[in-house]
Amino acid sequence: MIYSGKALSVDILPSGAAHLVFDLQDSSVNKFNQHTLRELQDAVAALQAAEINGVVFSSAKSSFIVGADIGEFRSKFDEGEQQILDWLIEANKIFSDIEDLAVPTVTAIGGVALGGGLEMALATDYRVGTDRAVIGFPEVKLGILPGFGGTVRLPRLIGADNANQWISSGAQIKADQALKEGCLDAIVEDEILIEAAVKIIEQCNQGKLDYKRVRSVKTSALTLTPIELNVAFDTAKGMVAAKAGPNYPAPITAVQLMHDAAMLDRAGALQLEHREFVKLAVSEVAANLVQMFVNDQFLAAKTKAQLAKARPISLTAVLGAGIMGGGIAYQSALKGTPIVMKDIAQEGLDLGMSEVRKLLDRRVARGRIDANKMFSVLSSIEPTLSYDGIDKVDIVVEAVIENTDIKKAVLSELEALVSEDTIIASNTSTISIDELATAMQRPDKFCGMHFFNPVPVMPLVEIIRGAHSSDETIATTVAYAKKMGKTPIVVNNCPGFLVNRILFPYFGAFSRLIHDGADFKQIDKAMERFGWPMGPAYLLDVVGLDTAVHCQDVMAAGFERMNLDFDSAIDKLYAQKSLGQKTGSGFYLYEIDKRGKPKKLTNPESDKLVASVQTSIKEFEAQEIVDRMMVALCLETARCLEDGIVETAIEADMGLVLGLGYPAFRGGALRYIDTIGVGRFCDMADKYADLGAIYHPTEKMRTMASAGDSFYA
Ligand SMILES: NC(=O)c1ccc[n+]([C@@H]2O[C@H](COP(=O)([O-])OP(=O)(O)OC[C@H]3O[C@@H](n4cnc5c(N)ncnc54)[C@H](O)[C@@H]3O)[C@@H](O)[C@H]2O)c1
Repeated sequence: MIYSGKALSVDILPSGAAHLVFDLQDSSVNKFNQHTLRELQDAVAALQAAEINGVVFSSAKSSFIVGADIGEFRSKFDEGEQQILDWLIEANKIFSDIEDLAVPTVTAIGGVALGGGLEMALATDYRVGTDRAVIGFPEVKLGILPGFGGTVRLPRLIGADNANQWISSGAQIKADQALKEGCLDAIVEDEILIEAAVKIIEQCNQGKLDYKRVRSVKTSALTLTPIELNVAFDTAKGMVAAKAGPNYPAPITAVQLMHDAAMLDRAGALQLEHREFVKLAVSEVAANLVQMFVNDQFLAAKTKAQLAKARPISLTAVLGAGIMGGGIAYQSALKGTPIVMKDIAQEGLDLGMSEVRKLLDRRVARGRIDANKMFSVLSSIEPTLSYDGIDKVDIVVEAVIENTDIKKAVLSELEALVSEDTIIASNTSTISIDELATAMQRPDKFCGMHFFNPVPVMPLVEIIRGAHSSDETIATTVAYAKKMGKTPIVVNNCPGFLVNRILFPYFGAFSRLIHDGADFKQIDKAMERFGWPMGPAYLLDVVGLDTAVHCQDVMAAGFERMNLDFDSAIDKLYAQKSLGQKTGSGFYLYEIDKRGKPKKLTNPESDKLVASVQTSIKEFEAQEIVDRMMVALCLETARCLEDGIVETAIEADMGLVLGLGYPAFRGGALRYIDTIGVGRFCDMADKYADLGAIYHPTEKMRTMASAGDSFYA
């Protein structure tokens, strides 16, 4: 043993090569934290002094190195530009020292090697993997780029085109592709991984492999002519910019950086990498995207804690084979839970099954599943008009039409037929879970399970805890959502639950802007530029104006502040039966294009109708539009947290990101308030106090403002 630490150790193998093994104590995975980097630095010093004929790098865990320690990273980013730069220079020296060792080096990759893990592997002369190896650079997803030489070594090793693709997409690359594109040199069986690495070193020492040439390729300029260079990078830049859009600068920065560094040697290229890394690392976008990663982990841990308390789920049912019921049946079956789909009408069932088939056909056409899988999904959905066998199911999702009396009747009828342990969850979007529970004998076995449309696409499921829902009921419903591949967030009961409660003040702000003379197309443009996937008018057309009007009534009945004291454009369009995409006309006109998708056009009829509710016409600055829309939305989010509808700021913000498409690079509504500062945000809201109570900050926010507090610690 020539080195032994808490994160790694170095031994000498019988062949005379050193073997550096990553094995971070008290952790299921290896990651690059400060401590591991320090030990690696010491171990490299030991390697430089040792009598060895090569070095093999490997891991004692099932993965190699999963990447950097995000928590530590985050505090590093907060230290400021100079500190980040100093840290990069120090860390990169370790990898350059590995690359410069006097003996041949090989990394043995038996599992995941991402981010810094892959950069470690790129510093060695060769890489041998097993078919479990998964490698890649996910950094752009965190708003940054590889900072330990990844943008320098990868293009020199696998070529500019591949490197542009790998780094700008953040994709995880499987072993066979990595071999084909030249990042892995061989794929071998698990049992002989280290042996294979040692063999490569022997071949180097026998002169059969020229590791010095490999090294010189990685440390010199790219061997492309100026024309080839421009073709490779300019094509990539166009594609990457179009895909990532203006709000996610990391992918295009990475490509531009590799272009700028292409003719430089290692030292020069690393210097550029440091510079661009620092710029991104201190950006608000990176801070928000890193927070998103932390949020994902937080939600996953919360869900995991619930799973321990859940009942097993092997068979489920859905009542109602409509838009939602069909989607729920499909998603359940696709993810391996067989489901009974019950309706009262054969046409309903036929429609539901044809929707399922359409979804499956699309998956087959895209090569995501094969015909066998399609058959097995279809055969695990049992369409039926009867309740036979309903006593065998573990959980029933009620998704019949949105009518309180009908739902109550259906729920009480159902409860009498299922077993005492069966959980019943309603997919209602507007009706109080406590109100529905009054129809039930076992309200403890009842809760809400609010899916979003379209079910296969939307990641969020709100699990609504009624006053009587038991912990086991909530845990089991959470477990079912998770089993369906969804992200569950548990919320308490109130009108609109979490997501719709926040959405409607936003729509209220939209209606008032129109009332005050704004052009709805300009509002859409401003909000899309802010980062929303679609502006509010377009979103309303997609949701359906009938649904919106119904929901608005429920919200106004539940919260005085959500009442509109004027005729809204939404009401006007609804009265004319312009219901949005479903009728081909709403705020916009829709024409079905060649691919069968609705294409959005201007709608002169609607423009006239909308103008009729306007007191005047007024030009609004885009910023004022954004402020009026966002203040209303953010304040309602803060109220949901204060009222205990949702337990944490993270869950509130993730509800909006996953349920509404709130732009992830902005981190969420409460995060947005934090970014502006609670005090400044309250001042901004006060400017609009006359517009109504949805613009009034809460007392608690005022207290937070004077104490200098924020929603995120
Ligand atoms: N469509 C959405 O965007 C959306 C989103 C979230 C939640 N929801 C909620 O999901 C529920 C269903 O909505 P949808 O859009 O799928 O409606 P839908 O009208 O498409 O489907 C309702 C289905 O329920 C069936 N049905 C009626 N009474 C029944 C009974 N007694 N037993 C069994 N089936 C019965 C009908 O035949 C119909 O097939 C509603 O509560 C709705 O608020 C809808």
